[in-house]
Order: sequence, then C-alpha cells, then structure tokens
Amino acid sequence: MARILAFSGSARKGSINQRLVKFGAGKAELLGAEVTLINLNDLPMPLYHGDLEAGEGVPENARRLRTLMLEHDGMLIACPEYNSSITPLLKNTIDWCSRPDGDTPGGVAFRGKVAALIATSEGALGGLRGLDHVREILANIGVHVVPMQAAVGMHSKAFTADGGFTDERTGMFFDAVIELLVRTCDSLRG
Ligand SMILES: Cc1cc2nc3c(=O)[nH]c(=O)nc-3n(C[C@H](O)[C@H](O)[C@H](O)COP(=O)(O)O)c2cc1C
Repeated sequence: MARILAFSGSARKGSINQRLVKFGAGKAELLGAEVTLINLNDLPMPLYHGDLEAGEGVPENARRLRTLMLEHDGMLIACPEYNSSITPLLKNTIDWCSRPDGDTPGGVAFRGKVAALIATSEGALGGLRGLDHVREILANIGVHVVPMQAAVGMHSKAFTADGGFTDERTGMFFDAVIELLVRTCDSLRG
C-alpha cells in the first residue's frame, strides 16, 4: 500500500491549496493509499540562515518533517504560485529538510521519493507556472516528480456544492494525477 504524505505550501487559515491537498488526499485514500495529511502551520521553522544552522543546528520541526518524509513513499504537494514561483514557506521547508544533520546525510528525505504536484488559484492558470519551479527544485534533489500535474484555475468557480469539479475534464485530469502518484509509489515499492 502506497504511503503518501500530503501538505500544502500555504499555511494560511482558509488556504485554498490546503483544501485542495485534503481533497486530493481523499482521492488517494479511495485508491488504497495510506495518507498522512499535515499542515505546515503545525511545523513552524525559522527562515533558513547559515549562522543559525551553525549555532543551533537543524530545527526540531525540520527533523520531525524529515522523519515523516522518510516514513512515506511519496508526497502530494499543493503549492500556490507566488509571482510565478514557489512560496517562501515551501522553499524554506525544503531547504531545512534537505540539510545534513549529525549522522543524517543531506537530502536523504527526498532522494528516491515520488511526488505529485497540484495547485489552485483564482487566476486562469491556477498556479501552473509555480509548479514548474517546484518540480525543478524537487527533481534536482532526487525526487521522482510524476510527469502529470494539475493546476485548478478560477478556484471559486471550480467546485460544485457537493465537492466535485464543475468541469468534468478538470476532474478527470486531477484524478489521473492522483492515480499516477499512487501507482508510481506502488511500483517503486514493488
Ligand atoms: C506574493 C503573492 C504573489 C502571488 N502571485 C500569484 C501568481 O503569480 N499567480 C496566481 O495565480 N496567484 C498569485 N497569487 C494569489 C494566490 O494564488 C492566492 O493568494 C491564493 O489564495 C494563495 O493560496 P492559498 O489560499 O492556498 O494561501 C499571489 C499571492 C501572493 C500573496
């Protein structure tokens, strides 16, 4: 059974990306995956600074998240687009979790993991451009980022009252991304 860690690059109360990742997590569970949904609000970390790291080491919350990553096969990440790129919260989180720490080598939480990327915004592109940056960063630290990704535009019009997608093709595409994540995790575990 694929074990997937799901989180969003926004910790804002009412984050539409946190909502989207919860939605995607539910779909992954329906496909048989074991999903741990977390909120980065619960794992606050200071802004990365080399002097802080030299003086105090890697923050406890980065260690906690690194351990969670190591306990899962893959990650479902919803990241809002900030000026066509990754949010500072997600980048800072990746940076801390990628650092060597005592006997733990750098990057170990990422290498060989699988990830699928999703995003949503009120814009027409839904955050698609930002996901390309997230993809490149993760791929460069050894994550197998599945080739499909879903960006849901015009968020306030994208969902029906009962929680489906208003546009059938968007829904089918979103489901295909989640299925690809689960199947890839299953294949690599096998
Ligand atoms: C600094 C900043 C830059 C943004 N840039 C973009 C952008 O390039 N494209 C876009 O679609 N939305 C952009 N937005 C709007 C976000 O998509 C919107 O705030 C969204 O609700 C953030 O996701 P969240 O609700 O999960 O926090 C930006 C928001 C902020 C705060």
